[in-house]
Amino acid sequence: MRSYWLRCIGCGREYPGSSRIYTCPACGDLLDVVYEHGDEVSRIPWLRGYGSRPLGVWRYRELLPVEDYGKVVSMGEGGTRLIRCRNLERELGVGEIYVKYEGDNPTGSFKDRGMTVGVTKAVEAGARTTICASTGNTSSSLAAYSARAGLECVVLVPAGKIALGKLSQAIIHGARVLAVRGSFDDCLRIVRILTRDKRFYLLNSINPFRLEGQKTAAYEIYEQLSGAVPDKLIIPVGNAGNIVAYWKGFGELRSLGLIDELPSFVGVQAAGAAPIYKAYVEGADGIKPIKDVETVATAIRIGNPVNWKRALKAIRETGGLAAAVSDAEILEAQRLLASREGIFAEPAGAAPIAFLIKASREGLVEGDERVVCIATGHGLKDPGIVVKTFEKPPEVDASPDSVLQALEISAKAV
Ligand code: F0G
Repeated sequence: MRSYWLRCIGCGREYPGSSRIYTCPACGDLLDVVYEHGDEVSRIPWLRGYGSRPLGVWRYRELLPVEDYGKVVSMGEGGTRLIRCRNLERELGVGEIYVKYEGDNPTGSFKDRGMTVGVTKAVEAGARTTICASTGNTSSSLAAYSARAGLECVVLVPAGKIALGKLSQAIIHGARVLAVRGSFDDCLRIVRILTRDKRFYLLNSINPFRLEGQKTAAYEIYEQLSGAVPDKLIIPVGNAGNIVAYWKGFGELRSLGLIDELPSFVGVQAAGAAPIYKAYVEGADGIKPIKDVETVATAIRIGNPVNWKRALKAIRETGGLAAAVSDAEILEAQRLLASREGIFAEPAGAAPIAFLIKASREGLVEGDERVVCIATGHGLKDPGIVVKTFEKPPEVDASPDSVLQALEISAKAV
C-alpha cells in the first residue's frame, strides 16, 4: 500500500500527509511530499499508449497524494502537446527543439496541473475558502477549480500588473479579486499571514500538493519522447515552483528506474526580476530579494521567489544554468515562435525560446542537442502586449480595390 507524508526541506522533520500546514512548524522552511510505494505503482501504463488512461495528470494517480481518486476535482488537465519545431531548428541550428505547450490546459496555463491536486486536497481538508496571491495565472486557475468544487475563492493580485485575459478569468469564475497596491511579493506576504487562520486554504506553490500535480509534466515529456530524456529542459522561473516540480518529476522517473539521467535544467528569468539568476552568477548560497521588479512578462514579475532553494539545487545538481533575458528578447522570441511555428505563448512562456535564441548565437547549445522548452501559458492570456507591440491593422474602405491597394498587390495580378 502506498503511503505519503510531508518532510521539511530544511530540517527534515516529518508530518502526516493529512496535516494542514504549508510550511514546517519547527523551522518555517517549505515542505515536500514523500512517498513509500507499494506495487500499485506498476499500474501506471508507462509507454503503453494512452487508451483508457489518457495522457494527463491523473494517468499517474498512483504517484499523487490523494485519498480517493473518485473525488478529484478535475477538468482533464495535462496531456498537453509536445510540439516539434523544425523551422526553429533550422533557423537556430539546434538539433531538436520541442515546445511543451502548457497553453493547452483547461484555463490556459500549467497552473491547472497543480490546482487539480491542490483543490482536491482543499476539499479533503474540509476547506470552504481558497486563497492565493497571483501574477495572474494562479488566480485564473484557482478561481476555476474552486468554482467547480463549490468553494469560495479569494485572490490578491498586484494592482495594474496582471494581464487582462487572466483578470477576466478570475472574475468570471466568481473569485473575489482584490487588486493590492503593491507587488506580487506583497500579496504573497499577506496571504501567508492570512492563512494562519484556518478559514483560508492557501494555494500558492508553497503548498506542497500543487507541485505534485505539476511534476506530471515531466512524466509526460518522458512518454512523449518514447522513453527518452531531453538534454536540456528550459523553463521560465518566477516563484520557482514549476522548475522544482519538473526536477521532482524527473527525479522520480530515475528512482523508478525508468531513466538514468536527468536533463540539464535551465531556469530563465526576466532580466528585470532575476534574483535566482543573480545568486547563480555570484555562486551565492541564497538569493537577495529584489524590491523593484519590472518586466513585460508580468507572470514572472517576482523579486522574492519562495522556492529559490530547491530551484538553485535543481539547476546546480543537473549541470544546468540560470539565465536572464531582456524584455526585447522575450518579445522577439514570442513573435518568432508564433510566426515560425504557429505557437502563441504569453511573454513568460516565450522566455525559454528567448534564451535558446541567445544561447544558439553564443554557441551555448550544441548542434545535436535535444531541448524541450516549456511554454507555460497561452498567448491569449495577454493580448494587450501584442496590440501594444505591433502596429494597428490599417483601416480600408469596403471594396476589393482598397484591399488590394493596401496590400500593394496590383489588381491585374489577381
Ligand atoms: N510562466 C507563467 C505563464 C506563469 O504564470 C508563471 C507563474 C511562471 C511561468 C513561473 O512559474 O512561479 O512556478 O516559477 N505564475 C504565478 C502566478 C506566479 O501567480 O500565476 P513559477
